[in-house]
Amino acid sequence: MATDSNRFQAIISHCKEYGFIFPSSEIYDGLQAVYDYGQWGAELKKNIRDQWWKSMTQMHDNIVGIDAAIFMHPTTWKASGHVDGFNDPMIDNKDSKKRYRVDHLIETHADAMRAQGKAAEADALISEMEKLDAAGDLVGLKKLIDDYNIKCPISGTANWTDVRQFNLMFSTEFGSTVSENADENKVYLRPETAQGIFVNFLNVQKTGRMKIPFGIAQVGKAFRNEIVARQFIFRMREFEQMEMQFFVRPGTQQEWYEYWKEERLKWHLSFGNPASDYRFHDHTKLAFYADAACDIEYNFPMGFKELEGIHSRTNYDLTQHEKYSKKKLQYFDNEINPETGKPYGNYVPYVIETSIGLDRMFLSVICAAYDEEDLSTDGKQDSRVVLRFPAKLAPIKLAVFPLLKKDGLPEIARDIMAKYRGEFKCFYEEKDAIGKRYRRMDAIGVPFCVTIDHQTKEDNTVTIRYRDSMQQERIAIDQIGEIVGKAIK
Ligand code: GAP
Repeated sequence: MATDSNRFQAIISHCKEYGFIFPSSEIYDGLQAVYDYGQWGAELKKNIRDQWWKSMTQMHDNIVGIDAAIFMHPTTWKASGHVDGFNDPMIDNKDSKKRYRVDHLIETHADAMRAQGKAAEADALISEMEKLDAAGDLVGLKKLIDDYNIKCPISGTANWTDVRQFNLMFSTEFGSTVSENADENKVYLRPETAQGIFVNFLNVQKTGRMKIPFGIAQVGKAFRNEIVARQFIFRMREFEQMEMQFFVRPGTQQEWYEYWKEERLKWHLSFGNPASDYRFHDHTKLAFYADAACDIEYNFPMGFKELEGIHSRTNYDLTQHEKYSKKKLQYFDNEINPETGKPYGNYVPYVIETSIGLDRMFLSVICAAYDEEDLSTDGKQDSRVVLRFPAKLAPIKLAVFPLLKKDGLPEIARDIMAKYRGEFKCFYEEKDAIGKRYRRMDAIGVPFCVTIDHQTKEDNTVTIRYRDSMQQERIAIDQIGEIVGKAIK
């Protein structure tokens, strides 16, 4: 069994070895913090995305989904505050030439202090950092790094530059004309999908005849020039977000914020992990426009970390877009206000946002699923690696094996494939001994395998083998669809 400290490394290796995740452009030695999803990774990711989409747009009558472009008018990012404010304080080590996000550098140091039993000092360090960060005190942050003698993990020295702000947005040139002013053709790769929702708020509200409260959901790529690219797909430069903006009447945001906290936690728990693997982290330091914010943290192998953010963003974004676009982004609420006896009238709605990284959700799913099981009995050593995915997320639902490559068994197996492939993802395999085939399917998390043997020809039954228990039983071919279908519902 992998120990806690090397479990994460084992999961990363497994992802590569079994076609889930590869480093991007690996033949050229990869690109830092960019990853490609392989054949099973892409299926798993799609299943997670589909579950989220369904939970938002199908299970809520008042939420619709959109698919906005990655490129947006550059003023969008001026209005949203990203051009001026999407910065992180950075510091460079002069010896290793490595750049670090100051908060990550200090957090890593605090973690090391905790590991040495200095939890109270570590908490004091973090709280001091948060105070200085909130005040934008770059000189104070540098002094904190000096005072604690925080060293670069690469060079081992404390030979630091000053702390500077660094914008995390990627930009590129738009169109083919060369302009004198380089900034004129500059467009950004969106750092969040949310703004595509805000700028379409009225389009959707009017064409969908949406009544408040209502939500707009979106899944799509986002890009951030993260400085400290680490922890596999936890923090990437190109990633996917699943975001939903829920538009509410001003004054009701607190109750909707609580509603969405609960609703989102319920969604996570629906995948069967223990509740103790999740916790809320309420933000004490709020963005200036937010009136409440929290993270749902998951117990990753490297500890509890942010998986999803839930933010009460007030009417900040829509108001900013009104200001910069000079277009009204308001809603006419004809419900009667019991206090005045008159309709609530025109207002800029308040917004509760739920925002989760699809890649980060993928990481939580694969970390929860990964199991190294010791199967040794009576002095006979044996083990297996099994991915215990919830069946509805598994990349492949059913593997179909003819016991032998002859005697008409492959033909029956092919018929079973043809019967069920329209309903769920099936996989055909006839190579190697059955035991080996089972282990290969365990390693990619296939919940059900069926084997076709000579008895099948006589009575139309197959052996079904259950991934988690490894139990086998004889069932009629006609029962396969029911068993798998029930598990993936
Ligand atoms: N619209 C709000 C927003 O973007 P955020 O906290 O910056 O908020 C939301 O990001 C979620 O997106 C995070 O909880 C995380 O799951 C995911 N995320 C953010 N940056 C990421 C990165 N560099 N790599 C992978 N996922 C990331």
